[in-house]
Amino acid sequence: MAPIDEDGFSLTHLQKATSYIKGKIPSSPRILIICGSGLGILADSLQSPIVIPYGDIPNFPESTIKGHSGQLVFGTISGINVLCMKGRFHYYEGHSLKKITSPVRIAKLLGVELLIITNAAGGVNQKYKVGDIMLIKDHINFLGFAGTHPLRGLNDDDFGDRFFPVNRSYDKNIRKIAVEIGQSLGIGPNLHEGVYAMVGGPNYESPSEVRALRTLNVDAVGMSTIPEVLVAKHCGLKVFGFSLITNECVADYDSEKQPNHEEVLAAVNSRTQQLKDFVIKVIEKCNFN
Ligand code: 6GU
Repeated sequence: MAPIDEDGFSLTHLQKATSYIKGKIPSSPRILIICGSGLGILADSLQSPIVIPYGDIPNFPESTIKGHSGQLVFGTISGINVLCMKGRFHYYEGHSLKKITSPVRIAKLLGVELLIITNAAGGVNQKYKVGDIMLIKDHINFLGFAGTHPLRGLNDDDFGDRFFPVNRSYDKNIRKIAVEIGQSLGIGPNLHEGVYAMVGGPNYESPSEVRALRTLNVDAVGMSTIPEVLVAKHCGLKVFGFSLITNECVADYDSEKQPNHEEVLAAVNSRTQQLKDFVIKVIEKCNFN
């Protein structure tokens, strides 16, 4: 039986978007970079950029929030073909998980082998400071615990198996390379490897929720990334992900501090140049040629 044609996620829908993108770019991308909040600037690292607005791509979702501009940018980094999503989709915007993750399948159809995924996240680990980078070594998918998943429904065997493992999702070799590069760039003390948890949002966590996350050994919390990683692993992509710690989570019941979007964007802006250098060097060292 053909998979349920739900929300633009069927092979025919995805192929339509794929052919449109193929018609705009000279050759296949090897890497998809999904830029987190305020991190769209990573796309500025691409040489010979070709910009495709999301709105022009048939069946492609459109983003709705500040700091997420909504463009696909194709270009090269050190001669390697890269596709960059400037602006990603969040569950709290009202998109389904299938819609949010459809670009990952489109990337797979375009020939992508590696997903580099970034996000802005709150620091749950008390050792983390604003501006630190956390390489994601594992995750907790709270949406999955609650019974919602991008791959719920009929499985499309063309992409991957019905049941699939998610241990070893975050490529160990690339993490090792990234740690070395962090050290060479002088950001060693601000670089960690940790566990990312996704919650639905759009609110930041209550103090009791932050305490619960600490008990579960979560290091950083955000509202994205895991759906895309799950779909990427299902179809056999390699994944490298990191969080930029943009604020401290508030665990004190009576604290005056309150997380806010402005502080998140300010933390991102203070790190953009370093993050660009970091991503470029990781890609160079991944030996894609
Ligand atoms: Cl504190 N929480 C969540 N869920 N997402 C965030 C965040 C906090 N800071 C940036 N993104």
